[in-house]
Amino acid sequence: MEMPVEIGGHAPAFMMVAETAADVSAREALLDRAMGPKRRKKSSEKLRRGRRPSEGLAFVARDASGGVAGTVRLWDVRLGEGGAAALLLGPLAVDPSLKNAGIGSALMRHAIAEAARLGHAAILLVGDAPYYARFGFSAEKTGSLAMPGPYERHRLLALELVEGALDGVHGTLKAAGRKLKAQALTSAA
Ligand SMILES: CC(C)(COP(=O)(O)OP(=O)(O)OC[C@H]1O[C@@H](n2cnc3c(N)ncnc32)[C@H](O)[C@@H]1OP(=O)(O)O)[C@@H](O)C(=O)NCCC(=O)NCCS
Repeated sequence: MEMPVEIGGHAPAFMMVAETAADVSAREALLDRAMGPKRRKKSSEKLRRGRRPSEGLAFVARDASGGVAGTVRLWDVRLGEGGAAALLLGPLAVDPSLKNAGIGSALMRHAIAEAARLGHAAILLVGDAPYYARFGFSAEKTGSLAMPGPYERHRLLALELVEGALDGVHGTLKAAGRKLKAQALTSAA
């Protein structure tokens, strides 16, 4: 599924599309430009390292010439040992030269819609509440959850895609995604 974004009333300038293997180096360069090298030290990274994004939930904003203008991915996690399945969103980033043009919002809306369509129950992220509140995220139900490393508690936010999915959840988030190595072996077989 693709979502076009019109900017300034012109023809769609950006499409929200599935990321492909050919986008990986452009995505990584964009993340370095947008977030700097410290991005690899985040607690969220512990839940992503060595894993593949959740099936069908890695997106880029593609410009008219095929370039990568933005990126967002979602990752499979469990809420506590043996706990409920959920998604962790991030990193979300837009090319610094294209900020405030609606690309981040378009990526978020697309990612949320696809996660819901695929039957996921909830999305968590660590981020600025003033930005993510517009998509329905809040810290209301994350008080008994924890990241596996340092983070600011008030920035752990969640959105239920299924009402009540986060009622009573507690514990530390655990990586639950498909492992990179296993996938490489499978595709080589
Ligand atoms: C945050 C980011 C993804 C937003 O993408 P974007 O395409 O610039 O955002 P949009 O055009 O969809 O939305 C712009 C609006 O969000 C607001 N906004 C952007 N970042 C915000 C923040 N951190 N907190 C509150 N509001 C924010 C802007 O002020 C603007 O508000 P307006 O609609 O009232 O004018 C982008 O700026 C970015 O890549 N930043 C660096 C990486 C980063 O911080 N990622 C998020 C980690 S939490």
